[in-house]
Amino acid sequence: DRPLTILGIESSCDDTAAAILRQPVEGPAEILASVVYGQTDLHAPYGGVVPEIAARAHAEKIDLSIEEALVTSGVTLKEVDAIAVTSGPGLIGGVISGVMCAKGLSASLGVPVIGVNHLAGHALTPRLTDQVAFPYLMLLVSGGHCQFLIAHSAEKFTRLGGTIDDAPGEAFDKTARLLGLPQPGGPAVQAEATKGDPKRFRFPRPLLDRPGCDMSFSGLKTALLRQRDALIAEQGGLTLQDRADLCAGFQAAVVDVLAEKTRRALALYLADAPSEPLLAVAGGVAANTAIRAALETVCAQNNVTFTAPPLALCTDNAAMIAYAGLEKYVAGQIDDMSLAARPRWPL
Ligand code: KG4
Ligand code: ZN
Repeated sequence: DRPLTILGIESSCDDTAAAILRQPVEGPAEILASVVYGQTDLHAPYGGVVPEIAARAHAEKIDLSIEEALVTSGVTLKEVDAIAVTSGPGLIGGVISGVMCAKGLSASLGVPVIGVNHLAGHALTPRLTDQVAFPYLMLLVSGGHCQFLIAHSAEKFTRLGGTIDDAPGEAFDKTARLLGLPQPGGPAVQAEATKGDPKRFRFPRPLLDRPGCDMSFSGLKTALLRQRDALIAEQGGLTLQDRADLCAGFQAAVVDVLAEKTRRALALYLADAPSEPLLAVAGGVAANTAIRAALETVCAQNNVTFTAPPLALCTDNAAMIAYAGLEKYVAGQIDDMSLAARPRWPL
């Protein structure tokens, strides 16, 4: 019967983030501030996230991001009712930074600390942005994640399948690297793909011949490498058109795999006859217009509502952690000083 104010902290991968969320007595929760310090530039020279560099950058930026979230929201630490922090899964160094910081604040302010699963944060985002009702189907597609989940409640998720190797974003990033395009690879490959012929080169559709919702994307990179090297051997290099055609072929394969696996995941989800069937997509790859269009089509064919949170809340952020923490707080699930970092923590 009074508003709740939650401070959220996220530091599990390569973004240091803090957010202030307010749940009024009535109506939807409001994001008062959401600060994200990305580390893309720090890792760019190495072609992937370097855990040691990530850990140091989190330790450097975490206080700053919290302070900035407080200042922009106009909220003081005294008004914070609980601290929600990503306690896993993720890179151990970063997760520890976040958890230690949250526990310190919790002890000094005398308010609860709540350990949040990073994937639950992503998976609950449609409830924060669109007040979506359970149960809904969720597709997480980013640089680090790729899985289908049915969200039954804030605590109960059923995993229908996921990638057995690379995440799609990782495949886009590797494709960009192999073709000399800038990082992050997703937007660059998408832009090239619009100029290319998706049928010129053959790309596999991994695991479509097998039942279920598991996916595989590492073979696409191998197929790309082979065709790139064949072109280089034959003609001494790649033309701009070759590059666009390779991107188009690669992207079409990702689209086909995601669309077909989404069809299957929807069939499993719809078998329980949810009253307001809905598919939500989150993760950086959800920004891809071809993938989005394919998912929208599959949903329309199945009379399922399609939704995607705004991009800033699809990618790693602390507002989603604060929101997942809020759901736990309301359910009475709080932690204490024994809260530990869990680098591996399946939903
Ligand atoms: O969720 P996110 O910001 O981060 C993590 O996974 O941690 O996702 C980033 C990923 C990168 O791999 C990036 O290349 C990919 O999302 N991405 C895209 C597009 N925009 C970003 N992939 C395909 N098409 C896009 N338009
Ligand atoms: Zn994430």
